[in-house]
Amino acid sequence: MTLTPTSPIDANHALIAAAYDPEMVRQVGQRLIDLLSDHLQVVSDAEGPVLNWRDPTDNIEAARAQLDAGEVTSPHEADQLITRVEELLRQTLSRGQNLHHPHYVGHQVPASLPLAGLFDAVTTITNQVMAIYEMGPWATAVERAVVQRLGETIGFPSGEFTGLVTSGGSLANLTALLTARNVTLGESWERGLMSSDPAPVLVTHAEAHYCVTRSAGILGLGTNNIVRVPLDERRRMDVGQLDAILTDLRSRNVPIVAVSAAACATPVGAFDPLVDVADVCRRHEVWLHVDAAHGGAACFSAKHRHLVEGLQLADSVVCDAHKMMFMPALCALVFYRNPEHRYAAFQQTAPYLFDPSAPGMAVYDNGISNVECTKRAAAMGLWGVWSVFGSQLFEALVDSTFELSQRFYELLGEEHDFVPYCPPECNILVFQYLPAEIRDRSAADVDEFQLRLRREVIQSGDFYLVQTRIDGRSYLRTTIINPLTTMEQLQQLLACLRTHGQRILQES
Ligand SMILES: Cc1ncc(COP(=O)(O)O)c(C=O)c1O
Repeated sequence: MTLTPTSPIDANHALIAAAYDPEMVRQVGQRLIDLLSDHLQVVSDAEGPVLNWRDPTDNIEAARAQLDAGEVTSPHEADQLITRVEELLRQTLSRGQNLHHPHYVGHQVPASLPLAGLFDAVTTITNQVMAIYEMGPWATAVERAVVQRLGETIGFPSGEFTGLVTSGGSLANLTALLTARNVTLGESWERGLMSSDPAPVLVTHAEAHYCVTRSAGILGLGTNNIVRVPLDERRRMDVGQLDAILTDLRSRNVPIVAVSAAACATPVGAFDPLVDVADVCRRHEVWLHVDAAHGGAACFSAKHRHLVEGLQLADSVVCDAHKMMFMPALCALVFYRNPEHRYAAFQQTAPYLFDPSAPGMAVYDNGISNVECTKRAAAMGLWGVWSVFGSQLFEALVDSTFELSQRFYELLGEEHDFVPYCPPECNILVFQYLPAEIRDRSAADVDEFQLRLRREVIQSGDFYLVQTRIDGRSYLRTTIINPLTTMEQLQQLLACLRTHGQRILQES
């Protein structure tokens, strides 16, 4: 790969040839894999920081400087190119969030299975996309197979294409609720909702993820027309209250787009009692949607499957493979109990895409049921990992992370200066650090202390955890989402919180 341009046209050709050179892919790829493997080894061994904290403007300037450098130094020799790529990769790996570090116990984003990333890279490099089957036949087939298999695991009819894959839980919830709106409010797709009187409502879990309530705004329902069902003592949807709300809405002839339940809800990981919720919805003839973005994967576990019992009774279900199936982002699935409903979200045709001479092919075209037209092969990693390790890997991942959270909860209960909010149902755990020095101070002081403590800990790079607010109070929150995290490391987390916490208390 040596390029010696003599004229501007030659220079263009040389540049393009260098950018596409398969030999460059081999050489850079081998270096990249070495660097990545070394990085994963260091990070998984808990060496170095979890979060590489820097001020955002620092990072933006550094990233911008690389773009500007690329304008003036176009490498023409293989060695130069590899050196330049290596420089960029090292910078990328050294400035990120290290999800594979076992001290990462933060958001519901996993230490993703590296093999899935490699399968993803194959489809990214060969650019397998799909709006229609023929654009990405194997990518489409893989996606359909995964939808069938996961659908069956949830309990939907065997052998059916009950759903679709899309980019993230937010888009998945929006797609499912759009379908619910179109089915329950006939003609809303064509006529809009302006003339609906009384205005239709969306009934949700009181702590539904903001993407669910945001959907009400996007779908034209209006966020004022969200009815939040109060919670029971375990922060689950209160089924008696749901029944009363639906009875009242029906008696006033208020159109109900859907009930959106949670499995589980984000703040403390509470699973709604789906069988009972489904029963109430059936009696009132209301569409039941379940946001199982986080907890859907519990269906793989013999031990925890009971948490999502009833998922198969819902009209639509969302499950994020990039949460508890440990896939790299983004890979989210939407399921419909009635497979025909996947055509109800978008009632459009695109003549240049959909070929009337092969009408039987349309059922394999993703563009019919997805927001996206060009869509990446998001399920390739999931298919690859599932095909290699079998579904028992997902069961092992669910079981081990759920169990570790339970043990962490028990540990917190034994400590005099930590107070867990409630027992975990899954791998999400909420608690406060309450040493004697702060325990009797005002609620505002206690809350501010939790927030400051978390910020100092994450910026130190020692651990990464998140915060949440429940009933107006601030808490620390962990999600055990790296299956390599150990109990010993969770003990170190408590020690770390104590060290930082005591320093904050002394300073104030
Ligand atoms: C319950 C729930 N639903 C939906 C989402 C949004 O999913 P995504 O981040 O993939 O858009 C989240 C994100 O954490 C969630 O916890």
